[in-house]
Amino acid sequence: MTANELRSKYLEFFKSKGHAIIPSASLIPENDPTVLFTTAGMHPLVPYLMGEKHPAGTRLCDAQKCIRTSDIDEVGDATHHTFFEMLGNWSLGDYFKKEAIEWSWEFLTSDQWLGLDKNKIAVSVFAGDNDAPFDEEAFNIWKNLGVPEARIAKLPKKNNWWGPAGETGPCGPDTEMFYWVGSKKAPASFNDDNDLWVEIWNDVFMQYNKNADGKYEKSVQQNVDTGMGLERVLAVINGLDDNYRAELFLPIIEKIEELSGKKYDESTDVRRAMRIMADHIKAATFILGDEKALTPSNVGAGYVLRRIVRRAVRYGKQLGINEVFTFKIAEEIIKIYQGTYAELKKNKEFIVNQLVKEEEKFKKTLEDGLKEVEKIFEISRTLSSVVKKYIDGKILFNLFQTYGIPLEVSLEELEGRSIRLNHSLGLDKKMLTEEFEEELKKHQELSRTASAGMFKGGLADASEATVKYHTAAHLMLAALRQVLGGGITQKGSNITAERLRFDFSFDRKMTPDEIAWVEKIVNEKIAEDLPVVCEELSLEDAKAKGAMGVFESKYGERVKVYTINPSTGSGSVFSREICGGPHVERTGALGKFKIVKEESSSAGVRRIKAILE
Ligand code: ALA
Repeated sequence: MTANELRSKYLEFFKSKGHAIIPSASLIPENDPTVLFTTAGMHPLVPYLMGEKHPAGTRLCDAQKCIRTSDIDEVGDATHHTFFEMLGNWSLGDYFKKEAIEWSWEFLTSDQWLGLDKNKIAVSVFAGDNDAPFDEEAFNIWKNLGVPEARIAKLPKKNNWWGPAGETGPCGPDTEMFYWVGSKKAPASFNDDNDLWVEIWNDVFMQYNKNADGKYEKSVQQNVDTGMGLERVLAVINGLDDNYRAELFLPIIEKIEELSGKKYDESTDVRRAMRIMADHIKAATFILGDEKALTPSNVGAGYVLRRIVRRAVRYGKQLGINEVFTFKIAEEIIKIYQGTYAELKKNKEFIVNQLVKEEEKFKKTLEDGLKEVEKIFEISRTLSSVVKKYIDGKILFNLFQTYGIPLEVSLEELEGRSIRLNHSLGLDKKMLTEEFEEELKKHQELSRTASAGMFKGGLADASEATVKYHTAAHLMLAALRQVLGGGITQKGSNITAERLRFDFSFDRKMTPDEIAWVEKIVNEKIAEDLPVVCEELSLEDAKAKGAMGVFESKYGERVKVYTINPSTGSGSVFSREICGGPHVERTGALGKFKIVKEESSSAGVRRIKAILE
């Protein structure tokens, strides 16, 4: 089965169960300060899981692009990835455990669908703890479907609880499905430690909401959130025990083999290096290919991008690739995916240029940096009996600041030397990472309050402040179009309780007069206390009514349109945008609007930071 067939089958199956198919959202979350990337299919749906009405209905399904950095240390094995596609289906206060589990089972085992061998499937359910009871209901549903009790593991929160995606938000017990990929007969019972049981699907029952105090409250609406890893399922249905040997990776591995002159199966080290390179460059290609035009930098999501590119370059060097190469691999990746994700093809030039630039930048300083790492190792070796701790987060941060060597590269280099020279440095990775991040925070451009805010609230307490900023963003876009011309479009936004960050297409610095003018228009519209009206329309009607919305496609057929000052009497529409909301009811609620910074974000894209006082 091909990846395309698998995607279509999944969507078709859930369509037959009354689900609306919605398109993948951007990898870079819109207006969600709690995470840097879209980490799961549920992520763009959080407002709807919290009770907002979704224009496409209460049953949804999609294939969503995801980036997960929490598993980055495991990348290098056969089944973990930084970038992956998640197939998912959702009930927004509609069906619950029985239907979700029965449909999962039907899709996996029915010959009409995946036709997987029932005797190779095991599942796990939540065992229960102080926060929530044993999920007996899920257990019984599986039992009634014929799964032997020994194959229904009862596991704690660590295994069978999902969410929230950020610090707060919807979450609940889950039930996971595993497939046996070993060549011998599947064991009678499931064992979490055995890698031959590959997790393929997770059904989450969102009955709770984790609040800012860390308490689990019963949620207003009971939702189902499921996630099936496309790459893993593709491998297992094709009888492979290594995702990198399947269609979505094989051409990338072959390209790396060609560039390095080494073979994937040469040794476990080579295999691991090639997997990491394939994974990281794929993630970088998708991040760069996203409409948001993110570029490598030393902060936030841009920093993650920088780290994965540089780590891939370093592994390439280890395999003996001396030329600039990441873009060549990206070209292979674009070929694999361009039929499904048209944005990769559209942004190919940008992807290639950015990769070349970043790789060259890194190469320039890498040699010097690695010499410095060696020096640090030597000093530490001499001192270790006298001075307990020479290598600390500060030293590692300086390596990053001065030579652009990411933390994990320094740590891997130091450890590699340790092993080769048989001299243990006793590095405490966890502590060093914390210290490094502490240093990094001190140097980041955002003020401490703003960056603390990034991880505090979350959509759960979609506090009044963030709602106001949503509306301010609409006013500002309309004002920018009045001042700079109708060609201005939004390229992205990020809102915290403290500020609004807004990217838009424009190719030069704004003058102080233009900035003042935009502020003036927005403040006038606030003073006029205009109504903000929401309507649900079909995408065509919304477009016909002149609604703006660069991210329109992600909402599917029916969309919400927010209009500020719908034409009543002599007044004309000031702003009309396709948007998920929420918004304030009248602009008068916003307070005073002020632009605090206007700067370049990337080529042809400007970034404004604004506050409401
Ligand atoms: N949100 C769930 C997961 O990512 C389905 O596993």
